[in-house]
Amino acid sequence: MNNSIASLLKCPDLVRTQAFINGEWTDEAGGAKINVENPATGEIIATVPNLGADAAERAVEAAHAAFARWRSLPAKERALRLKAWHMLVLQHEEDLATLLTAEQGKPAAEALNEIRYAASFIEWFAEEGKRVYGDTIPSHSQDTRFLVFREPVGVVAAITPWNFPSAMVTRKLAPALAAGCTVVLKPSDVTPLSALALVFLAQEAGIPKGVINVVTGGPAAIGSVLTGHALVRKLTFTGSTAVGKMLTAACAATMKKVSMELGGNAPFIVFDDADIDLAVTEAIAAKFRNAGQTCVCANRIFVQDAIYDDFVEKLTVRVSALRLGNGLLGPADQGPLIDQRAIEKVTSHVADAVERGARVTTGGSRAPGPGNFFLPTVLADVPAEALINSEETFGPVAPITRFDGEQDVIRAANATTAGLAAYAFTRDLKRFWRVSGQLEYGMVGINTGRISTEVAPFGGIKESGVGREGSKYGIDDYTELKYVCIGGLD
Ligand code: SIN
Repeated sequence: MNNSIASLLKCPDLVRTQAFINGEWTDEAGGAKINVENPATGEIIATVPNLGADAAERAVEAAHAAFARWRSLPAKERALRLKAWHMLVLQHEEDLATLLTAEQGKPAAEALNEIRYAASFIEWFAEEGKRVYGDTIPSHSQDTRFLVFREPVGVVAAITPWNFPSAMVTRKLAPALAAGCTVVLKPSDVTPLSALALVFLAQEAGIPKGVINVVTGGPAAIGSVLTGHALVRKLTFTGSTAVGKMLTAACAATMKKVSMELGGNAPFIVFDDADIDLAVTEAIAAKFRNAGQTCVCANRIFVQDAIYDDFVEKLTVRVSALRLGNGLLGPADQGPLIDQRAIEKVTSHVADAVERGARVTTGGSRAPGPGNFFLPTVLADVPAEALINSEETFGPVAPITRFDGEQDVIRAANATTAGLAAYAFTRDLKRFWRVSGQLEYGMVGINTGRISTEVAPFGGIKESGVGREGSKYGIDDYTELKYVCIGGLD
């Protein structure tokens, strides 16, 4: 256990630095380790085992061995354990938030929000697990009856990202467990501590051995077992579109079910009839949450001609007041980016836009001093062909483009291979119906930049992925339909 991180927690046991396989905290004696760094300082705060194919294989076998018993429990029994897990997460929310800030960098208040968001999926799916209904189908003959059951898919492999190291774990594990599946989790090697702490609490809550297994390490060796193993029946992944495509292709050989929550390129459209102050507030919420490192982030801001200058000025004033900081040291509005590569990508997007004629109205560069901090940035007059309009920036840059007509902006908004989230601001009821109908996205926020909640279906279309997470739909992806035909009943 790392003493300095543990000393920040009321419950130091939450700092777990081993993998978790078949109910045992484990590492390989003398085996390789991965450093976990605080992106606000560059300091190494812990190490975890860099496990490979053998450990992944053992984890799959443990999950498979635990499956028969776990699936056979009444849904209510599973729900009670999930509820106990939910309560423990809330009881330890401050510690979990501190760990999250330490390894991921998001400010303390935002980290606490993520822990509550994470907890909400456990509570929600504890309830939903009791409502996995089947069907009876009217028969075509007198001597037969037709029944349809929803059964758990089996062993689920979950690969989770560094940008939401807690919420993406529970958004996948809670529906899987509630449906009766067992899990092998591979958390991001950049932010494994949050996942391990959550799993420690799941163990405390009475989730039996083998039902959740966590394999820490680099993606290649573990990923190839999880995608190739015949006993893994489903893979759920949140991350980049490029990696999602590779994983999906690898899963095809054994015809696994997949859920892919991939990259976005969200348009944020402000029409001239909008409440401008509301649009500015929501643009900040949608753009600067997690320093712009979310897949539903406003990536392209389109503002109609008549209100353009006003919007740019108001957004610039508000963004320049955002406080950058290390969330472990005090209040901040924006933390660091995850690593140096992220800084380089954001820097190159800003440089490219400026070269093509965009104006930096605030920010525009890396912040001086240690850590991966980039100044909260607004770019005005960004031309359509700028890189920032076609690639996901994943950083704290709000690029604004002027538009004239409604159809022009809808065309521009849809001109992307991504289809995750879109936002539009208008007070015109007819426009609301037209625009929300025409935006080719899985999720549309109207007059809000905050769409994420456990009660609504989260997911995209086109190259943003397949499947939905959260909501009443989120558990379906962890079940298979079984049709039973009963004959000889005359
Ligand atoms: C993500 O960026 O992957 C998830 C964001 C959310 O749940 O709001």
